[in-house]
Amino acid sequence: MTVVLTARDLTRHYEVSRGLFKGHALVRALNGVSFELEAGKTLAVVGESGCGKSTLARALTLIEEPSSGSLKIAGQEVTGASKAELKQLRRDVQMVFQSPYASLNPRQKVGDQLGEPLLINTNLSRTERREKVQAMMQQVGLRPEHYHRYPHMFSGGQRQRIALARAMMLQPKVLVADEPTSALDVSIQAQVLNLFMDLQQQFNTAYVFISHNLSVVRHVADTVLVMYLGRPAEMGPKEEIYNRPLHPYTRALLSATPTIHPDPLKPKIKIIGELPNPLNPPTGCAFHKRCPYATERCVTDEPALRLVDNRQVACHYAEQFIEGNTA
Ligand SMILES: Nc1ncnc2c1ncn2[C@@H]1O[C@H](COP(=O)(O)OP(=O)(O)OP(=O)(O)O)[C@@H](O)[C@H]1O
Ligand SMILES: [Mg+2]
Repeated sequence: MTVVLTARDLTRHYEVSRGLFKGHALVRALNGVSFELEAGKTLAVVGESGCGKSTLARALTLIEEPSSGSLKIAGQEVTGASKAELKQLRRDVQMVFQSPYASLNPRQKVGDQLGEPLLINTNLSRTERREKVQAMMQQVGLRPEHYHRYPHMFSGGQRQRIALARAMMLQPKVLVADEPTSALDVSIQAQVLNLFMDLQQQFNTAYVFISHNLSVVRHVADTVLVMYLGRPAEMGPKEEIYNRPLHPYTRALLSATPTIHPDPLKPKIKIIGELPNPLNPPTGCAFHKRCPYATERCVTDEPALRLVDNRQVACHYAEQFIEGNTA
């Protein structure tokens, strides 16, 4: 078991203008996220729009520097790394976006785009690069004649295959995928997800898989991180999170996910109200205004992330939700 990605208390704050003469305010988009990820494993990150998922993705892929906290990729500390070390680290973490248009150049033939990372980072000859590209194309289900085509000549699912192939060309240690199947037709989502899983097995890549869709996450995750307003609400092994969610927010998210066999004994929890304004987050527990179980304590005391029943959870009353205990 090799840990390839370690985040410690990662934060990212943005200063935003509040309008003329009103000065600046701070958005705490990412507010203290820690985890370890092993080679070949998948950490899935879930939560409502605006909870900081993409901000986390940008920090992990070195697109943006964190405001504080530390990040280690393949054992190497990112902060303070030299230029040459950063170049290597950028090779080690690759990203796939929701829209493959964001990562593909519309004016360049697919074969050339896939060969580009090899051209820049290796000393392989033209023929060797071509062979590698063609092997990868085959692996992601593209045909040899696709080599000379442009991105617009492909379907959405095929374009996401190309984006994935490009991200995997240098066999990164970590792949961060931000909603990679959300823009795809439901009928092809499963195929693309299976491709993600096949490549992970083959290359032993660690995945950070971001999605708001809990049914998708159930398919791919080993560990699930549920975020709320930039903070972890609950994090643990997939089975624990899905079978016995302890944070009221996780329970509400799962209640809202359609299932084939709904359990009539499990009460549905509805989230009330809207996501608070991140510029003016609530006191105490960030979820208290929407939580059906909130008490006085939740209004004033911020719950720490702590270990309860084999997962980490940030709720004062987590123990009460363990099955058997009456909530
Ligand atoms: N560059 C920026 N400047 C100011 N605020 C930002 C910036 N980027 C993100 N934010 C804010 O940070 C918060 C988290 O945004 P982020 O894009 O990470 O959310 P998300 O979980 O990816 O949402 P979605 O599911 O809609 O993609 C939001 O409140 C957003 O408005
Ligand atoms: Mg996002």
